Amino acid sequence: MTFNPLRERGIPLDKQIRNWRELNVMPIDPDHADPYTRCRVIAMNGIETEAIFFSHHLARHCPSIDIKQQLARVRYIEAQQQKVVNWLLPGVASVLETTIAYEQVAVDLTAWVARMEPDPYLKQAYQFGVLEDFDHLYRYSNLYEMIEHRKAEKIVDNLTEIMPGRPTPLHHRDPMDNVRDPYDRSTAAPISKLHALTIMAAEQQTMNFYMNVGPTYMEPIARQLYQEIGLIEEEHVTHYESLVDPGESWWEMLLNHEYNECYLYHSFMETESDPKVKNIWELHLNMELEHLRLAAELFKTHDGRDPEQVLAPELPAPVTFEPNKDYIRELLATQIDYTTLGTGYVQEAHERFERMQEQIMGGEPAPSQVAMQENVHKSGEEYRLETEGLHPVPSLRRR
Ligand SMILES: [Fe+2]
Ligand SMILES: [Fe+2]
Ligand SMILES: [Fe+2]
Ligand SMILES: [Fe+2]
Repeated sequence: MTFNPLRERGIPLDKQIRNWRELNVMPIDPDHADPYTRCRVIAMNGIETEAIFFSHHLARHCPSIDIKQQLARVRYIEAQQQKVVNWLLPGVASVLETTIAYEQVAVDLTAWVARMEPDPYLKQAYQFGVLEDFDHLYRYSNLYEMIEHRKAEKIVDNLTEIMPGRPTPLHHRDPMDNVRDPYDRSTAAPISKLHALTIMAAEQQTMNFYMNVGPTYMEPIARQLYQEIGLIEEEHVTHYESLVDPGESWWEMLLNHEYNECYLYHSFMETESDPKVKNIWELHLNMELEHLRLAAELFKTHDGRDPEQVLAPELPAPVTFEPNKDYIRELLATQIDYTTLGTGYVQEAHERFERMQEQIMGGEPAPSQVAMQENVHKSGEEYRLETEGLHPVPSLRRR
């Protein structure tokens, strides 16, 4: 069944405001919820956060009071949506448990996007990035075992493996080398634009989360690991945001944002296992249809083009959270030693990379290495969750 969000009717904007009772959603069950329901919640929170900040940036560039008022009205609804979505997370989960879920999102969402992306340069960007978040999952899981004495399989539930990826200390590149070439807005497939926005928003929320929760820890190693991985998420945001064509007008960007929100709520509505959460995805989809209609009006008036010229004629196949174990194992076996040089990828440690490494390490091991050593010391061996056999890279097998 095809679904063209430009042709569907949503909820009128003045009917979208919810009262306290409606905003006060019941969180998902911390022990029995589908881990991929939690992943959808985390991903969608990133999307709504981006919707809010994008709209603020647009408003700050906007001289027209009428448009600013309309942006403020829609943005208030985005803010309510963000509250409802993020408040589905249960308060009993620790920050580290939520962190592990964030990295599970990064792994399985980016891997899915990499598999579906038609453009080879963009696909490479996702394949490159996913091996790093895969390693973050492994490092945080070891920190979790060390300071909370629990195992991360209770969070990821065997859907995602936990083992070494591209080693975290090697993610610290010269910032110049994190900038990729953008797609071309006039020739890129609509799905490519949606993928780039989705992963950019997810990584940005991850960066924001780590920069805020990192200093709430008492344990020095936890504080340090959040600093280290927080800086890598800055690199990831740079990497993914640079894929988006900066030649898109503000109105085209707004249109793409609202369309992407429709796409993701529709995707999650189609794939959600928890009926109560599914109802929220459906309600929010019906709100987004109206946001999209309003953005389409602004686009027609100020960009002078027809939205059908830049958007997909129907929604692409739904974004799906599912295991990507074989795909990630294949990437581990073939791309683990990649780094970036300029806007491309290389397999050798070049001069600029070495210089950055020297500067940031200051002759000492990185927090991500210390965390592993400390956990081996405390727990007897490092934590892994290898459900599909030995690590595909022989040198990274358990000794
Ligand atoms: Fe929204
Ligand atoms: Fe990460
Ligand atoms: Fe990341
Ligand atoms: Fe929206």
